[in-house]
Amino acid sequence: MKTLRVCCALLFAISFAFMVGCEGEEGPQGPEGPQGPEGPGFTENTWMGNNGDNCIGCHSEATEQWMETGHHEATASLADFGSDDAYCLSCHTTGFDGTVDDEHNLVDNGATSDGYDDYWPPETAEDSTRIAMLEGVQCEACHGPMGSTYTDHKPEVSFATRMEDGEYLALCDPCHHNQLDEWAMSGHGGALETHEMTIEEYNDEFNAFSNCWTCHTSEGYIMTNDPDYAGMGRPEVASLIGCVTCHDPHNDGYDMQLRTIADQEVLYNVNYEATFSGYGTAQTCAQCHHARRDVDNVEDQIAEGYEHFGPHPSPQMDMFLGTGSYEIDGYDYADGRSHAHQSVTRDFEGNTQQACVACHMQYTTTSPEHQNHEFAPDVALCQTCHPGAQDFDVDGFQTTIETKLATLLDEIGVDDSHDLGDPEITTVEQRMAGYAYAFVDNDGSKGVHNPYYAEALLDNAIAFMQAQNNLAGK
Ligand code: HEC
Ligand code: HEC
Ligand code: HEC
Ligand code: HEC
Ligand code: HEC
Ligand code: HEC
Ligand code: HEC
Ligand code: HEC
Ligand code: HEC
Repeated sequence: MKTLRVCCALLFAISFAFMVGCEGEEGPQGPEGPQGPEGPGFTENTWMGNNGDNCIGCHSEATEQWMETGHHEATASLADFGSDDAYCLSCHTTGFDGTVDDEHNLVDNGATSDGYDDYWPPETAEDSTRIAMLEGVQCEACHGPMGSTYTDHKPEVSFATRMEDGEYLALCDPCHHNQLDEWAMSGHGGALETHEMTIEEYNDEFNAFSNCWTCHTSEGYIMTNDPDYAGMGRPEVASLIGCVTCHDPHNDGYDMQLRTIADQEVLYNVNYEATFSGYGTAQTCAQCHHARRDVDNVEDQIAEGYEHFGPHPSPQMDMFLGTGSYEIDGYDYADGRSHAHQSVTRDFEGNTQQACVACHMQYTTTSPEHQNHEFAPDVALCQTCHPGAQDFDVDGFQTTIETKLATLLDEIGVDDSHDLGDPEITTVEQRMAGYAYAFVDNDGSKGVHNPYYAEALLDNAIAFMQAQNNLAGK
């Protein structure tokens, strides 16, 4: 680089004489070329199988954890349905890389490698031994065929690479493409489209220096919340929130391979006791979808104003619980009838087990066999308790909330909600009322997460503002 600059200076001096501009800096590196041909003597790894027995000696914890998951039982669960059907076996076994036709027969079952399909249907004793070794979704289904030299294997999946988008999507895709397709349509899988960013720009924004990565990247979430990875360094290029952000195939959390995460610290307690742990499978959601503001922060914003006035655009768990916003003294904020108190979000013992998951990950008409990974609620679910509901605007409630948001802004007297936190524009009283606006608006459900709390916040803020305006003779 230095020589380049010296040359450039020289060039500049010379070119000045000829009135030609200096040549620009070298352009960026071009894209990687295609993979070269295989070297002499190269053989692809073969499938070892053996239900983890080959690995347990050195990886006892990883193997024992995997044994608790459905992957270990995947062939066994076909017993009553399709253990003689190539199509079913193709995802419920290890090393099945053959193709299956519409009638579910194996196509071109040549000796491509030595996975399950190459010995099925079994004709010899050796075939039977081999398929028994390749039952279930074993280690190699994800970590790649390890071959007979597996004892000194080169790890196929290392921490540095296994979470890059292509890598982990490729891990789960062959068998879970249903979930993958749905995920791609969700806010999580579609984040680059939402922000109109490349992955590099996304990393500059959410991964480079800040704590944003905790909730906006997969690695940040894992390293912050999973004690196993607490000591790892920040990767250069982090990935979007995907399968292995929430799931860990070596963890049997809730029978769903959900990552066990450290309890969220209790961040704030504005008027009610609120803990951010113990929400069952929805703990996964709560870990990111909360307001990111404590009492001091809220009170400072009101006293002094703040550029990003209000909670982070993710106060869904706070809203659901009916806590975390600014509450004006002397007003009633009871929320006793909200969805948090309904059976839909609870388990049989009455604990808040389901919460977000109940509405955002239910079985739908398009995903009758598995829980929806588009993370979008389905109106069919609302109809089970609100018969006749045509959309989420049940009894016109979302419309009411939108009207009240507009009324509140009007009473406060600003045209643009972005001005609410500007101390040059608003007074302390206006911000006391304005916080409710930001909280309800940022939640994004237009009141559905907690109809009574959302409505109380807006009604009280409007009444407070009207009283203030009357006092001022407006
Ligand atoms: C070779 C196919 C295959 C691959 C690869 C695969 N799975 Fe599975 N997965 C299955 C099958 C089959 C089941 C159902 C198991 C059964 O029969 O109970 C399953 C079940 C699950 C379940 C339900 C919970 C449980 O323990 O049964 C989760 C969660 C899951 N897989 C996550 C993943 C993730 C995440 C990846 C990628 C890292 C992945 N799977 C890769 C085939 C696969
Ligand atoms: C494209 C891959 C794929 C194929 C083909 C496939 N399955 Fe599955 N199967 C899965 C995955 C992944 C799961 C777990 C997650 C889910 O529900 O999507 C699963 C779950 C199951 C379960 C539930 C296991 C449990 O204990 O909860 C049964 C039973 C099952 N499959 C049977 C079958 C049968 C029978 C066939 C053939 C008609 C079949 N599967 C074909 C991938 C597949
Ligand atoms: C469904 C895919 C899948 C299967 C099956 C699977 N793994 Fe993993 N494995 C992963 C993923 C993903 C990670 C990264 C886990 C994380 O982020 O916590 C991982 C991590 C690991 C690690 C390093 C971290 C640790 O937990 O120690 C080892 C070692 C490992 N796997 C070995 C195995 C062995 C041995 C088996 C079989 C007994 C197996 N894996 C089965 C996907 C899988
Ligand atoms: C003789 C011991 C030994 C055997 C047998 C063995 N491994 Fe490993 N494996 C290691 C060592 C050592 C490492 C590197 C250190 C580490 O990460 O744990 C490693 C690393 C790995 C990693 C990467 C872990 C990470 O943190 O990124 C995976 C995945 C893995 N092994 C899978 C397997 C699977 C699957 C088998 C069985 C087919 C197997 N290993 C058999 C010793 C072994
Ligand atoms: C505690 C977790 C958490 C942290 C930390 C966090 N965010 Fe967020 N952020 C979220 C969640 C969850 C959403 C999605 C909320 C929604 O769409 O309703 C979000 C949404 C956003 C949005 C709006 C995106 C959109 O699609 O409209 C922006 C912009 C944003 N965050 C920026 C940041 C920045 C910059 C930082 C770091 C200074 C940061 N966030 C830190 C959880 C967090
Ligand atoms: C690792 C943090 C994290 C976890 C865990 C998480 N989310 Fe998100 N979620 C986000 C972020 C960040 C966004 C915004 C993505 C963007 O646009 O940048 C988002 C977006 C969404 C959206 C779309 C919002 C919109 O404005 O379109 C929904 C719905 C959602 N999440 C629901 C859930 C549910 C339900 C769960 C639990 C099963 C969950 N999320 C778990 C961080 C997370
Ligand atoms: C009673 C069902 C229900 C429960 C429980 C629920 N939600 Fe929602 N959620 C909805 C509905 C309905 C919407 C509004 C969708 C619309 O208007 O398009 C919504 C909106 C959202 C949005 C904004 C989506 C967007 O497009 O801006 C996010 C993010 C979200 N919910 C996350 C969560 C989280 C996290 C939880 C758990 C704390 C949760 N939800 C609990 C039904 C529910
Ligand atoms: C934002 C978090 C999140 C992401 C991302 C995510 N999942 Fe899930 N997944 C969950 C939760 C939470 C559950 C359990 C829902 C419940 O409580 O029943 C679940 C359940 C599952 C199940 C079992 C559901 C059933 O119907 O049997 C499978 C299989 C699964 N996920 C696979 C995947 C795959 C594959 C991906 C990647 C495309 C993925 N998940 C991405 C949170 C997530
Ligand atoms: C398990 C039953 C159940 C489900 C499912 C359910 N709700 Fe509710 N919802 C209730 C109950 C009970 C109330 C409180 C009624 C009352 O006290 O007047 C309520 C109240 C409401 C209210 C405010 C009061 C009103 O009716 O105007 C709205 C809006 C609402 N729900 C929307 C939804 C939406 C949208 C969905 C689907 C995403 C949904 N609910 C799913 C049980 C349910």
